Amino acid sequence: MNGSSGDYAPITLKNITQNNSDQVGIIYGDVGTTEFKCSATSSLEKNEYVQIHHEVCGFVLGQVDGIERRTNLSIEKAQQMSNGDEVDIEETISAIISIIGYRDGRGLLQVPRTPFRAGEPVYRADERLIRDIIGLQDDIKTGAYIGLLSGHDIPVFMDINSIVQKHLSVLAKTGGGKSYVVGVLIEEFMKHNITVLILDPHGEFSALKKRGKDVTSTRKFGVHPRSYRDKVMEFSPDTNINKDAVPLKFTLRNLDPREILSLTNIRNVRTYLVMLRKTLDYLKSSGRDYTIQDIIDVLEADKETPNGVLVDELEYLKEVDIFASKGTKMNELIVKGKTTIINLRGTPPDIQQLIVNRITTALFELRKTNAVPPMMLVVEEAHNFCPQQGQVASSKIFKTIASEGRKFGLGLLIVTQRAAKVDKNVLSQCNTQIILKVTNPNDLKAIIASVEGLTSGMSDEIQRLPIGVAIVMGGKISMPLIVEIRPRETMHGGESVKIL
Ligand SMILES: Nc1ncnc2c1ncn2[C@@H]1O[C@H](COP(=O)(O)OP(=O)(O)O)[C@@H](O)[C@H]1O
Ligand SMILES: [Mg+2]
Repeated sequence: MNGSSGDYAPITLKNITQNNSDQVGIIYGDVGTTEFKCSATSSLEKNEYVQIHHEVCGFVLGQVDGIERRTNLSIEKAQQMSNGDEVDIEETISAIISIIGYRDGRGLLQVPRTPFRAGEPVYRADERLIRDIIGLQDDIKTGAYIGLLSGHDIPVFMDINSIVQKHLSVLAKTGGGKSYVVGVLIEEFMKHNITVLILDPHGEFSALKKRGKDVTSTRKFGVHPRSYRDKVMEFSPDTNINKDAVPLKFTLRNLDPREILSLTNIRNVRTYLVMLRKTLDYLKSSGRDYTIQDIIDVLEADKETPNGVLVDELEYLKEVDIFASKGTKMNELIVKGKTTIINLRGTPPDIQQLIVNRITTALFELRKTNAVPPMMLVVEEAHNFCPQQGQVASSKIFKTIASEGRKFGLGLLIVTQRAAKVDKNVLSQCNTQIILKVTNPNDLKAIIASVEGLTSGMSDEIQRLPIGVAIVMGGKISMPLIVEIRPRETMHGGESVKIL
């Protein structure tokens, strides 16, 4: 991807020399050990990396935390200007640089214990120093290329093994770019032959089969549009709406009475549980497969027990059409190295939760015995499948996968616009995060609380992120990085959703 590959020598005073043309400013004023001010002599941008020479530690990495244009234009002079007078404005640019640190002899990240000197030059950071200090890898073999480091032409690779082993969350408000970046990650998974299952409530990911558009960008992302049609399989409970998908069916026989009742609007489960159990036992004793209609027929034949409410609810379930005598087998759904989309567009939420529960439960069991390959499970709209409040059919299995999935090579990718509404037990198990623009104060609070290493000072930064720019944390990356997400190779399916 980029010229400087893995085998560079450790950064020492000797092999980093500084060319004067890279100088961007001079340290001035009171100088602390965590930050200092710099009078900028050349254009500097917020979040850009700089390096400064320290008399004991050698070159130290810093980052532009804020920039201010200081002027001598007073309110009186501004008034004169509005009256048409010509006024001279003197200005200086001052940047606040926060100090990130340097690697000591053992490779540990350290911060100088004495301040820099005022008058010392500040340089634009050397790419090798940035990579070394922030722990960025440059390995296309094991890395997912997600974009460029903000302000630098440095590609950011996330370690795929640590994504799969540590769970990942993608958090942002609606329209913040979650599905877009999830698409980027899935393209990378496909490139690396990772097996993926996507739970896709809006049917956005069918577009992975389509080649993306050529994008013109001022940034050199080096992305070429392509399709992944040969890698993608799509299943859906509703193939009337999702015509490109293979029907997803379940055998009624595998559902117990409680599960069937959980699909209905019946809240007083106890009233009907015994009745339904008896009916199912009777049907099972015949040895044949049965349908919802068969259950209705048996219930209706019983003239003595009042069961009209249950019959009405079962009539509704019959309409949903997800049951068949022959269900979809897990080995049809999961194929090594392929990406399977479960397109749930058009399926009612309670049925979605039931389907998700059945598939993920089966997946977890099969992973335990290695009957399916190690894989990633992508959960869009996760707040609907593992909510913080209330219990849905799939609540329990997500807690289990979040806490135990890693042991069995089942990685979770949790996607949500409502971080505050996702089960905290699930969210806090995600050790890698991609955070895009978030504005809701409750969601910001939940994110700061669940993400290690994210300070409350960053909530300001998160609210102001432009679309397509993410804060990436965790995995092998030792500090939060600001990343401009790369364009998609495939089409992004997000737009079509809004029209519906
Ligand atoms: N990295 C990006 N580069 C270019 N456009 C983007 C990027 N991320 C998001 N967008 C644009 O923003 C829109 C919303 O993004 P999307 O991922 O669908 O949002 P979300 O899933 O968070 O609701 C997309 O349709 C796309 O046009
Ligand atoms: Mg989305």
